[in-house]
Amino acid sequence: MMKKPTVDEILEKKKQGEPILILTAYDALWASLLTESGVDIILVGDSVGMVLLGYETTTSVTMEEMIHHAKAARRGAPGALLIGDMPFGSYHQSPQESVANAFRFIREAGCDAVKIEWHSRVVEMVQAMIAAGISVMGHVGLTPQTASQLGGYKVQGKDPQRAKEILEGAVALEKAGCFSVVLECIPDSLASEITKKLNIPTVGIGAGVHCDGQVLVTQDLLGLFNRFTPKFVKRYADLREEAVKAIRQFTQEVKEKKFPSMEQTFQ
Ligand code: KIV
Repeated sequence: MMKKPTVDEILEKKKQGEPILILTAYDALWASLLTESGVDIILVGDSVGMVLLGYETTTSVTMEEMIHHAKAARRGAPGALLIGDMPFGSYHQSPQESVANAFRFIREAGCDAVKIEWHSRVVEMVQAMIAAGISVMGHVGLTPQTASQLGGYKVQGKDPQRAKEILEGAVALEKAGCFSVVLECIPDSLASEITKKLNIPTVGIGAGVHCDGQVLVTQDLLGLFNRFTPKFVKRYADLREEAVKAIRQFTQEVKEKKFPSMEQTFQ
């Protein structure tokens, strides 16, 4: 069973060189499964929009949807360090609105912290959340909520100017008080430079092996989500194929009147 690490223990892991393990869950079933698998942190990512809700991008996800899924994940993993991903538009307009929405993740859904993606006014919002006593994880590089401004879902920071912006963004988030920062889809040399520069842990997704931790979408690594598979995903299983096989077998057996057999029948 998972022992809930504190934010301080997560910071300590960087000092000890011990990788930080984060996976996503959007409901009680998967959150409970993750607690049995030895991850440090469960992220209720806004990737729920694409993985479970069938949206084209994450920008359609609402606060209500995120709170609904975060509450479910908390019910499945009462002892986990749970991070709620703030959806697009919920921390963009004013520090007051950002704090109010972040409070909802903590108070209503029982999250321990929130995650925000980089945008031009984000530092101001993070400072307000930290001042309100909320732990915040940052996210730089490829930030899916603003992917359309970044030229789509592609590797960021290959040119020196963009690499500098990403590095400066990560430093600014550390200064604002974030306890950790996700680095998405950037060259491993840049991720390594940022990881060395920051005192807080970096968590990579498509950012190479030099980050202090790694995060993936659980349904990607299990081969359940098949709309697309980014290069940075390693499929550790093909549960989609397994599931389809099992369901086909069920339909076949029902058609052939082999299910239910006497074993599943009350007499
Ligand atoms: O929404 C999400 O799941 C994420 C992670 C992949 C970092 O932001």
